[in-house]
Amino acid sequence: MHVLVVLSHPDTKSFSHAISQRFMDGAIEAGHTCEIADLHAEGFNPCWSLEDIENEGSSPPKDILKEQARIEKCDAVCFVFPLFWFGMPAMLKGWIDRVWSWGWAYDQLDDHNKSLQKDRTAIMLIPAGANPNSWEPYTEIEKSMRNIWETGTLGYFGFKEKRTHILNGSTGSDQRRENLLNDAFEVGVHCFRS
Ligand SMILES: Cc1cc2nc3c(=O)[nH]c(=O)nc-3n(C[C@H](O)[C@H](O)[C@H](O)COP(=O)(O)O)c2cc1C
Repeated sequence: MHVLVVLSHPDTKSFSHAISQRFMDGAIEAGHTCEIADLHAEGFNPCWSLEDIENEGSSPPKDILKEQARIEKCDAVCFVFPLFWFGMPAMLKGWIDRVWSWGWAYDQLDDHNKSLQKDRTAIMLIPAGANPNSWEPYTEIEKSMRNIWETGTLGYFGFKEKRTHILNGSTGSDQRRENLLNDAFEVGVHCFRS
């Protein structure tokens, strides 16, 4: 199986980069192939613009066609991004807004909920600074985030299998971070479990 890893972080020394690498190590060990879309390194422009609107459903801009082609080749997409204000960074949000365009991702003419995409798996690996011991007040927010991402964003795109992993304590002790890196490896190994 082929996995597209969409990474949203500008710093190659970040924990998010390390997580994406360990996930890929696991997936490759399990016999899968991986391609990385490092949005900052590649200079992706996340600003939805008039050009996007005017070409919707007909001839999307070249940078969007390139991203769509990468998705078409894959069986799963793994999103790696740090939790920002209980949401995703603007870079990744903009990638989704621009790349999952009408006429390619979904068809609102006949059926509002109809995806034009094949069944795929979506995995989200989300380093979060908050320590697991201080997460309890945020459990309701976490439920809302999962609902918005899994039902709204990923579900609306047409992902069938959706797995969200919030990696709490990403700025914690070395031991904590090593445990999270090992978790990411295991997610990679089992990314196509049934
Ligand atoms: C703009 C910004 C917003 C953040 N918002 C949250 C948040 O809402 N919840 C949280 O647990 N951590 C939050 N953090 C902490 C990051 O999630 C944490 O620094 C990151 O996971 C560390 O991984 P990295 O090395 O890949 O950046 C925020 C950090 C920044 C810079």
